[in-house]
Amino acid sequence: VRPVKPLNDPFSIVSSEMSGLAGNIAKLVGSGHPSLNKVANYYFKSQGKHIRPMIVLLLSKAMSEVPDSRRGEPDTSDVSYIADESLSPLKILNEIPMPILNPLSKPQEPFVSEIEGVLPKQRRLAEIVEMIHTASLLHDDVIDNSSERRSRPSGNSAFGNKMAILAGDFLLGRASVAIARLRNAEVTELMSTTIANLVEGEFMQLKNTTDNTSEVVKNEYFQYYIHKTYLKTASLMSKSCRSAAVLAGLDRDLVDHAYEFGKNLGLCFQIVDDCLDYTAADKEQLGKPSGADLKLGLATAPVLYAWEQFPELGTLIRRKFKAPGDIELARDYVKKADGVQKTKNLAVHYHNAALAELDFFPPSEALSGLKSLTHIMLSREK
Ligand code: FPP
Ligand code: MG
Ligand code: MG
Repeated sequence: VRPVKPLNDPFSIVSSEMSGLAGNIAKLVGSGHPSLNKVANYYFKSQGKHIRPMIVLLLSKAMSEVPDSRRGEPDTSDVSYIADESLSPLKILNEIPMPILNPLSKPQEPFVSEIEGVLPKQRRLAEIVEMIHTASLLHDDVIDNSSERRSRPSGNSAFGNKMAILAGDFLLGRASVAIARLRNAEVTELMSTTIANLVEGEFMQLKNTTDNTSEVVKNEYFQYYIHKTYLKTASLMSKSCRSAAVLAGLDRDLVDHAYEFGKNLGLCFQIVDDCLDYTAADKEQLGKPSGADLKLGLATAPVLYAWEQFPELGTLIRRKFKAPGDIELARDYVKKADGVQKTKNLAVHYHNAALAELDFFPPSEALSGLKSLTHIMLSREK
């Protein structure tokens, strides 16, 4: 691990921006239907880590220190909503009164304050990223049939699969409205692509390999795993970092470095997540069930490393650990092969690569905070 010199607390650097996050999101996702409102806001009202918006805000702040010679025009136009009644069911409601629906069912104007170094559009981007992430969690917990999230019943166990899926769809709809209102074609393309990428990543994971179950060589599995990890986790981080740089008007070189930073950080983040699934003492530590991946039939990095040493694991991987005793056997192999430690080393590799990308930006308090956050992503225990 490369030493991180100034351990600036990333949370305190953007605390004022972060404190407005939940309130603004509540306005963006307010629905006229009280039940939908409750489900759509459920995960925002729990103890989330808010890592993605924090990355966007810290990086945005750090980018404000980039000299003018390395940027064109930043996108400083406002993010206000279009006052178009056709976006709201208000008119129909006036004609046919429906007591269940509150007429204020279009997104409300969120609060945008001037914060040093962060453009209003970058701040909105941070909110959009959290909305997309939360939508994906609502769907993920249905797909994984998971009972807990953030130390509370998951959306699906609290409200049922149908409501959880619809609430996720609704969040995506509202996130799309907010993206459109950034009025930046490149950012629209990036953020829409990331939604598609999340689904592609989840599909790769469901199908696991190619449709044919014939011999697939081990390094193909590993490449497949990294590609899947990029799509399901790193794409949202990388493309939102890139979007923040586009909004800042940075030159293409720096836009690329912002993207590479987010990509490597995202890969590090998910690989650590895959380790924690093996190492977490209990669900109290994670706030969600641990040991879930093998039960879901998923071969993540710890098992793939063990497979290099124990070829007999291939049979278990291909049948998705479905035979009795497979899960226990796979755990033994992972232990014997030191699969978790090898996976941690891989996370260190991506952590270092992320830090190297940050060196292309001028030093600042926000940049040091981002370096600390990168380190926290590696050493986190939940
Ligand atoms: C958590 O992974 C899940 C994701 C990172 C992405 C999930 C994506 C989808 C369900 C596709 C649909 C996308 C949208 C935008 C609606 P995990 O299950 O490994 O982690 P966990 O332990 O936190 O559940
Ligand atoms: Mg899951
Ligand atoms: Mg999942």
